[in-house]
Amino acid sequence: MAKRKTNTLIVGLTWGDEAKGKIVDLLAADHDIVVRYNGGNNAGHTVAFDGATYKLHLVPSGLFRENVTCVIGGGVVVDPKVLLDEIARHEAKAPRLRRRLLVSSRAHTIWPWHTKLEALSEKHQGKGKIGTTLRGIGPAYADKANRVHAIRIGEFLRPDHLQKKVQRIVEARNEVFVKVFGEAGLDAAAVWREYAAYGEAIRPMIADTTAYLLRAVAEGRRILFEGAQGTLLDIDHGTYPYVTSSNASAAGAWPGAGVPARAIGDILGVVKAYTTRVGEGPFPTELRDDIGSQIREQGHEYGTTTGRPRRCGWLDTFAIRYAARLNGIDGIVITLLDVLGGLPELRICTGYTVDGKPLADFPDDPATLEQAKPVLESLEPWKEDISCARSYRDLPRATRAYVKRVEEVIGAPVRIISIGPSREQTIFRS
Ligand code: GDP
Ligand code: IMO
Ligand code: MG
Repeated sequence: MAKRKTNTLIVGLTWGDEAKGKIVDLLAADHDIVVRYNGGNNAGHTVAFDGATYKLHLVPSGLFRENVTCVIGGGVVVDPKVLLDEIARHEAKAPRLRRRLLVSSRAHTIWPWHTKLEALSEKHQGKGKIGTTLRGIGPAYADKANRVHAIRIGEFLRPDHLQKKVQRIVEARNEVFVKVFGEAGLDAAAVWREYAAYGEAIRPMIADTTAYLLRAVAEGRRILFEGAQGTLLDIDHGTYPYVTSSNASAAGAWPGAGVPARAIGDILGVVKAYTTRVGEGPFPTELRDDIGSQIREQGHEYGTTTGRPRRCGWLDTFAIRYAARLNGIDGIVITLLDVLGGLPELRICTGYTVDGKPLADFPDDPATLEQAKPVLESLEPWKEDISCARSYRDLPRATRAYVKRVEEVIGAPVRIISIGPSREQTIFRS
């Protein structure tokens, strides 16, 4: 792997699950710090090596690299219980993890009232639901924006203050649970007992990570920014309202980590060789046929966080081109290319039409996107199993033609190709 001197940002260009975790783990070997800047445990990032597979939701995917400091930035929403469970699950394989993991004092927290409110709200929406991961992400970011009932990680350092605050918040939330939803309320004392213990366990990892990262930038230490979700799930630039509640594009890294935009460096956009989506919302290239099922089975397309079957479709380069330009990417990482082997046909979407007229730009509203019909281009399929290829030349001619066409239509070079879950199943291109 060529040594890169600059910082790097890994961002999904579609609706998440592009195998960002695998790529972050690989590139972390060449960086000093890995920082998560957005989202929370709605993310499910997978890292595989030495025959084992690890699923991560909050801890940055650099944890298995002994010399890497992992930072959970201020833009992340942290469920303390999930964080501690995850550390406990992985620390045997991640030496000195508790000393290498810093959690921003500015990060907001997820509490039982957030998950409860989200479950009730999604249920009451019925058909109009977002199809969220039910991890309390939206309600926690809403409280952050509202400010009145929000709790930041740093408040765990002042337990007396926090205990009173939890009491006040639970009283206010119970009004809603009982009077609006006709549900039982929460027991503030029980919540506090549980969370006070989490606070004590997290305390040694709490830090002013903005100050830490600004020092790292000044010292020229190499930082890898790990995006969660994907650009089309970005709250401002994604397929609103079927999005998550944070800036999942590269735009989230500056505020979410607390570094100047110019420090971000090389931006690599990750795409699968086909496109998937979990939850509700428009998806123009979705395949509701046997080929869609074949892709789901060959790619094991079931959610890392919720286990839901992922919706599968042809590679949507029209949407990806929008995401690539929005993020200002320097290169593309194409993953799960092996999954396409053996499909009876192969297509990519290069544009959309509405009422037979081509669209100039990726639609900014869900109604247009719902009506959009993909313009599909057929490419030559291949039958070979490519998961053992170790160089670009090892790939069949039709596979290379696919990669070349993807570069052309997206308008950026493919820098990394992934042909299997594990570290060695990766081809780097200069
Ligand atoms: P993330 O959320 O972007 O980190 O992606 P996920 O971990 O949710 O989903 C990617 C899935 O694909 C995981 O199960 C990975 O182990 C797996 N994976 C990663 N790269 C490849 C690849 O090149 N080929 C195959 N077949 N699987 C891969
Ligand atoms: P990673 O980081 C795929 C989707 C949910 C839902 C919408 C809103 O693994 O790529 P939320 O719980 O965030 O309010 O749900 O966003 N979603 C993801 N889809 N990968 C993810 O993360 C996702 N995180 C959220 O399915 O449609
Ligand atoms: Mg995922």
